[in-house]
Amino acid sequence: MDRLQDVLEFERLRRIVNVKTAPYILLALAVALLLRNYLSKQTRPKTWLQSTRRSPDPEKPTDVNTFAEKRMKPTEREPGTWTPSPFTRPTAPPYPNWSHLTTKPLPYRPFRHGPYHITMGLRSMHWDEWIELDNHYLRFHADKARRIAERGPKCCRTSTGDPTTADPRVWDGAVELLEELSAYLSERYPSMFVRTDVGVDNIITNESFNIPELTMNGIREDPMQLCARLIQDDLAIMFEKEDGQYYLLAGAILLAGFWRLEDKFGMPLSEIHTSGDVPGFKEKLEKGMTNFFRRVQPEKAVLRNNYFLQVDDDLAWSSSIGDEDSETVGWFTAEKNRAVEHHYFRSERQSLRRLPRSGGVVFTIRTYFHPVTEIAEEEYVPGRLASAVRSWGEDVSRYKGRERYGEVLLEYLDQKHEEQVARGVDFSKEEEVRAYPW
Ligand SMILES: *[C@@H]1O[C@H](CO)[C@@H](O)[C@H](O)[C@H]1NC(C)=O
Ligand SMILES: *[C@@H]1O[C@H](CO)[C@@H](O)[C@H](O)[C@H]1NC(C)=O
Repeated sequence: MDRLQDVLEFERLRRIVNVKTAPYILLALAVALLLRNYLSKQTRPKTWLQSTRRSPDPEKPTDVNTFAEKRMKPTEREPGTWTPSPFTRPTAPPYPNWSHLTTKPLPYRPFRHGPYHITMGLRSMHWDEWIELDNHYLRFHADKARRIAERGPKCCRTSTGDPTTADPRVWDGAVELLEELSAYLSERYPSMFVRTDVGVDNIITNESFNIPELTMNGIREDPMQLCARLIQDDLAIMFEKEDGQYYLLAGAILLAGFWRLEDKFGMPLSEIHTSGDVPGFKEKLEKGMTNFFRRVQPEKAVLRNNYFLQVDDDLAWSSSIGDEDSETVGWFTAEKNRAVEHHYFRSERQSLRRLPRSGGVVFTIRTYFHPVTEIAEEEYVPGRLASAVRSWGEDVSRYKGRERYGEVLLEYLDQKHEEQVARGVDFSKEEEVRAYPW
């Protein structure tokens, strides 16, 4: 009986679905399918987000980084040219409860469980968070002042070129950066910075910056050096030339640990990375990075984080890779298997934006620096760091010097991780509690 019913039903359908109606039915089916798919997408991710809150993985090529890159429109500009943009940064609200004595450094722990991906790892930056300052300010400030006194133009320079080829954008870009910093800092950190008619005063260190005259407390200085004295970050500005490449033409690199401005000054971006043996640069990064630099617009700033390990406690220059003034420096000179008390976790927060007037692309590079023994006390950190260090490929390991400290470090991290397991730490909650980059 059922069978007969089926046959009759089929016959009826067959009559309806003749050549004329078939396209409409197919169309209706397709619309229904799309609608269903759309509706399920609408509801599913919401609950999924609320329940697991997985953070985007900036080290994964398919995740947030390409997202930021893809949103940028291709550019029609002639290489090496820039038309000033009317963009002005939105006014920043004061940092909530900020104090140079009590606000702790942000606890960036930007490493993931393996596998390791080589990418730029960019995420969008909110304008309010351009520069982060905290209660390490005075120490960084004093370190910078000492480095400026000892090394001056080796660390802080603005290219003036030779008189025949001098590029006026470069000096203008350095001054523009000083103006931008003075405006931003007085909005964001009013308990430290106060705007004046000619620039900005730091009312904690008693330094008065005059922008038209390029002076600090009456003494004239390189504009990048003045910028460096204001914040905890190192700074670099890249300018596009006619060949479409970006050149490092202004910098204040005082606390970089592993690289020297003199080695890289005037170089194009690609050479900076190949001369530094950045792993995977040619294969995985160069094309994307070049495109990214060409396209980055004044209104879209980005952030990225990275991390290194160091086997001495010198923030400014990691002396275990050699003397800062020696010809060749590298991990090969570092003492092998130093005790874990000498292992330091070094992490950078980099921001990247284009200055609207000069068109220079500014990097800010803020270093966070902690003993490994300190961060290994934090829940989830030793296990995750050990997994990350183990997942470095051969080239990344060479670049980060793992052979010199890996055994000691991993033994220590494994032990700390096991202590947390024994203590009953809930590892299923890791993504919730410490979503990247925390
Ligand atoms: C700022 O301090 C006030 C009073 O101490 C406190 O209620 C508030 O939660 C703090 N805000 C932040 C963002 O820390
Ligand atoms: C800044 O000036 C004030 C007032 O003259 C003084 O009390 C303070 O110690 C000075 N600070 C520094 C870092 O010199």
